[in-house]
Amino acid sequence: MDFFSYQDGRLACEGVDLASLATRTGTPTYVYSASTLALHYDRLAAAFREIDPLICFSVKSCPNVHVLRTLVQRGSGLDVVSGGELHRARLAGCPMEKVVYAGVGKTDEEIRDALGFGAGGGAGGGARSEGEGGRGVPIFNIESEPEFQTIAGIARSLGVTATAALRVNPDVDPKTHAYTTTGKKETKFGVDLERARAFFRRFGHEKHLRLTGIHLHIGSPVSETEPYVQAVTRTLELIDDLAREGMKIDTLDLGGGFAADYQTGASPAAADYAAAIVPLLRSRAGEGGLRFILEPGRSIAANAGVLLTRVLYVKESGRRKFIVCDAGMNTLIRPALYGSFHFVWPVTVADAHVPPARTERPPLEGLEPCDVVGPLCESGDFLAKDRPLPPVARGDLLAVFGAGAYGMSMASRYNSHPLPAEVLVENDRARIIRRRETYADLTRHEEGTQEVPV
Ligand code: LLP
Repeated sequence: MDFFSYQDGRLACEGVDLASLATRTGTPTYVYSASTLALHYDRLAAAFREIDPLICFSVKSCPNVHVLRTLVQRGSGLDVVSGGELHRARLAGCPMEKVVYAGVGKTDEEIRDALGFGAGGGAGGGARSEGEGGRGVPIFNIESEPEFQTIAGIARSLGVTATAALRVNPDVDPKTHAYTTTGKKETKFGVDLERARAFFRRFGHEKHLRLTGIHLHIGSPVSETEPYVQAVTRTLELIDDLAREGMKIDTLDLGGGFAADYQTGASPAAADYAAAIVPLLRSRAGEGGLRFILEPGRSIAANAGVLLTRVLYVKESGRRKFIVCDAGMNTLIRPALYGSFHFVWPVTVADAHVPPARTERPPLEGLEPCDVVGPLCESGDFLAKDRPLPPVARGDLLAVFGAGAYGMSMASRYNSHPLPAEVLVENDRARIIRRRETYADLTRHEEGTQEVPV
């Protein structure tokens, strides 16, 4: 469910006509619906209400500060994985008590910053001197022994205390793309359950980095609920074992990974994930029990955004028809990188071609199979392959749906195309929340040279 729909054959985002919008903003442009972001956030919060989790929107999925602010104002916290994302979280006005900091490769500088002692955190802000909030993040999600030792050492030298959650790898198969599978033993993420026990014995009593949480994130998107059930069950066994050894875990962060509707009705709803997960956790919630964290990105943002692109040429070669657009793998890399499906459809269509649902093969007459491709010099530069589409001509606009997550956030300037604009729609208002880059932006950091004293 989202607020992109055809009205009299014209695609609208909430109350804004997207064809008119594109004539003002140009293309390619990402358009986000604030009401859809809010709806998805609210549904997730409502589905999991019984265990009252802190929902930390995963910044990597859609990092625009204005998008983050929309969610933060709704009550969301943020999941960050770099100093840059922490900078965005601060700009978005997110209280640091609602930030979790993950990532397999935190640098010393990023750690100091996250503890409140970096350029971004304000001079000498102090992380969490016992019990009080500060400019530092409250929870580090830890991925390895050397990382724990490094953060503990830095916290000690700064005289502050931080909290850590160990990322465990419950060795379940999330049945998703190999590149986004993280919960299996052979990935680089977290430590396996056996190692986790030893980890707690070794570091469980460190004063400056209190190890009281467990974090997991098994993959993305996880289109079934069962892998979560397995992962949570195994993790609860670990928590019980640790309790028997006198180590109390107070926080369980379940990560993200809930799927989005790239095709209408294709993925479980927030309520389905909650129906599988909450019964395992309900008895552990509440006073003196576990505090829960969720890190959803895609399930909130994907269907809250479309990419608008203009058709430059329609050409035929061999027996194939190509629609060449001004957006390509530089703008949205998911089809090229993962073979991902995004529904693509003209922004303005005849009544007979209003799509009844977003599916790979809509049951409509008069469609013709096309490859929707970008302007780059790579054969992998496509948005959709062999897709039945209504007649399309030069100058038409196409909408690429489900592009709100991992769209702009993974866009590049490959072939020296400036990054696209981003627009946030709220009811019948549209605001540019990131201006389109110019050619001058492309070369700004190449102006002049600076001698390096070597
Ligand atoms: N937490 C952790 C530790 C993560 O690594 C991720 C995503 C999330 C939360 C958010 O997952 P989500 O709820 O958005 O599924 N570029 C890929 C997705 C990579 C996901 C990386 N980690 C794509 O376009 O499909």
